[in-house]
Amino acid sequence: MALTIADIGKAVLDTEYAVRGPIVARAQELEKSGMEIIYCNIGNPQALAQKPITWNRQLLALCAYPDLAKEAASVFPSDAIAAAKAFISGSKHGIGAYSESKGLKFVRDAVAAFIKNRDGIESDPDSIYLTDGASKGVQAALRMLIAGTNDGIMVPVPQYPLYSATITMFEGRLVGYYLDEEHGWAMSRDLLEDSIETAKKAGIKTKAIVVINPGNPTGSVLAASNIKMVIEFAKDHGLSILADEVYQDNIYKEGASFMSFAKAMAELGEKSVSLFSFHSTSKGFLGECGQRGGYVETRNLPSDVSAQMLKMQSVSLCSNLPGQLATYGMVCPPPAGGPSLPLYRQEKNAILEELKIKAKLLADGLNSIPGFRSNEVAGAMYAFPRFELPKGRTDNEYCMALLEKKGICTVPGSGFGQLPGTAHFRTTILPPRASLEKVVKDVAVFHAEYS
Ligand SMILES: Cc1ncc(COP(=O)(O)O)c(C=O)c1O
Repeated sequence: MALTIADIGKAVLDTEYAVRGPIVARAQELEKSGMEIIYCNIGNPQALAQKPITWNRQLLALCAYPDLAKEAASVFPSDAIAAAKAFISGSKHGIGAYSESKGLKFVRDAVAAFIKNRDGIESDPDSIYLTDGASKGVQAALRMLIAGTNDGIMVPVPQYPLYSATITMFEGRLVGYYLDEEHGWAMSRDLLEDSIETAKKAGIKTKAIVVINPGNPTGSVLAASNIKMVIEFAKDHGLSILADEVYQDNIYKEGASFMSFAKAMAELGEKSVSLFSFHSTSKGFLGECGQRGGYVETRNLPSDVSAQMLKMQSVSLCSNLPGQLATYGMVCPPPAGGPSLPLYRQEKNAILEELKIKAKLLADGLNSIPGFRSNEVAGAMYAFPRFELPKGRTDNEYCMALLEKKGICTVPGSGFGQLPGTAHFRTTILPPRASLEKVVKDVAVFHAEYS
């Protein structure tokens, strides 16, 4: 007899991932039947007309087909050919062979140099693991941390559902802590203390805290003081920190800047809190979601714990090699003085400038709709506006109706978590400007009519 649903474990059945839920499935159906859909549901830049960065694609092309360097040397700039040759010789066998479990050593060296250059602190390549996107790094950390069904992980509310889904799948307990919407989605020590205290009363042993900075779905950028507060909090409660920093290049707010948890810990001289920091090729200005590149850097892990992390990586042999190469391209931009740098800078600036314009366009547009209120989109790729919902309606119904009526695909706030009694949806800032302008106009009309 074939497998039945009754054979499937509860943890899998209970796992939910709102970003690709029933509203997206319906959007695809509607699209097939001829309706024009604006996909605002997922941070997938190249699905929304963002062009790949030439430098990365040249490296990928040259490493995938090394003879290209000979055959079309006139097409590829000399520094891209040199970088591809460095990758092929550093990897010994190119992108068709497994690498060591943590990922190619010379790529990890390059990641460590990138971190040192970014933060002015040392980074140990042996504490870096190259992963298939940041998601796999997050899952590896959570797999290690959730040792029993009473183990809790503090996760922001609202959060990116990778966390809730993975905690459910690994049969841990999600300990939500609220972000302060009234203050630009900042974190507060009081809210963290409330959350851990409530968990304790429920018999949960809290093991770690997740921080997403810049924030998804909130679009916020945390101040350095907030980051340091979290480190003190983690230290006081014996928690590990999972710092999701995949949007570190996506900062639009004047005066705001990215501070890594690694740097903040170094400034505090903190050496007792275990830290997992995640980065990815999917976001920033590369938008290479399909390449599945990323890394996790660990700090303050005892060697026997690191050995377990390595063992877990080795169970799937290694992360994919094109993804490792994409990560190499991310941390090693074209060298100064070479022929590739001007185009690289131009492409990077154009993408980030456009995102900045769209971040403002969307937040301002949503704020002009009566009944809507959005915080500034200071970073990342999303707005998470709050809106008034007619009595008896849910945010799911609202977003489904918005899709059916206007072809706008958003994700209901309940998929990320929100204060009881409030309603939100998440929309990306990624669609082209004209589409975003249409989104704002159509949401205004829809909202005025929705009952
Ligand atoms: C906050 C956050 N973390 C992690 C990820 C996963 O990214 P990837 O696995 O593509 O690197 C995403 C993707 O949207 C994200 O928004």
